[in-house]
Amino acid sequence: MDSRAIISVISGGPIWRLRETREWPNLEEDANRTGPGYAADTSPRTRVLVGAASFEAASVMAASASEHAPAEPAVAKDPDHLLDWPGLHARIVSCAACRLSDHRTQAVPGVGDHSADWLFVGEGPGAEEDLRGEPFVGQAGKLLDAMLASLGIARGDRVYIANAVKCRPPNNRTPEPDEIEACFPYLQRQIELIQPRVIVALGRPAAQALLKQEVRIGAARGQAFRFGEIPVVVTYHPAYLLRNPADKGKAWADLCFAKKTLESSPPKAVAAG
Ligand code: URA
Repeated sequence: MDSRAIISVISGGPIWRLRETREWPNLEEDANRTGPGYAADTSPRTRVLVGAASFEAASVMAASASEHAPAEPAVAKDPDHLLDWPGLHARIVSCAACRLSDHRTQAVPGVGDHSADWLFVGEGPGAEEDLRGEPFVGQAGKLLDAMLASLGIARGDRVYIANAVKCRPPNNRTPEPDEIEACFPYLQRQIELIQPRVIVALGRPAAQALLKQEVRIGAARGQAFRFGEIPVVVTYHPAYLLRNPADKGKAWADLCFAKKTLESSPPKAVAAG
């Protein structure tokens, strides 16, 4: 544990507080990002909710839970829904399950180690990600890379990076709940395939996609949520941190909490044979 960290236990859950801010680079603000996911949160604590039990259930849920459910859910009607990585990739890049597909240059499925211990989930691709087909390659991505480096991991090495929605929302707006629901089966399947030991939700839309409940980041920090059996830690989105560098210390504390959570989770089973 970083010697600069001190621990303060607040109302039932560990919250990590720092004496000083972690020195991540002071990158230019990602001015494109707006929306409720980036507002400071002060609401009461949220509660644990377990994620959808299966890919199929998630697909059906995606179709039924939303007021604006897509007419053709992407996966639920496919009998062969237990996709492998190539099948999942193909499905994502050809997806037209919601309106976000109308404006994209390309879908951005995700990047990284397919047997990663860590899964970081962001909100959705921005302009650069839409052009390059890889998540978190803009200014927020540079900060995310620095955050990963501080944990001793790197893009492609023990970590997978994905988004709640795989297509860029127009003008980088926050994705709508029905768009997140339509895309959720893909995230669900990514999690099933990777079986990460910890999931870090970056910002409110990612946390809400995973936890299926209203989340305020400020209140949810430091709590041990679960997606099925997998622990979920909630922290600020890197784009928020670019605009609010004073909160980088809190994000570093959250990453320390995530690391400790991972270290206390069972190691991955090694595939036989
Ligand atoms: N912000 C996100 O949430 N995801 C990206 O891929 C890039 C910026």
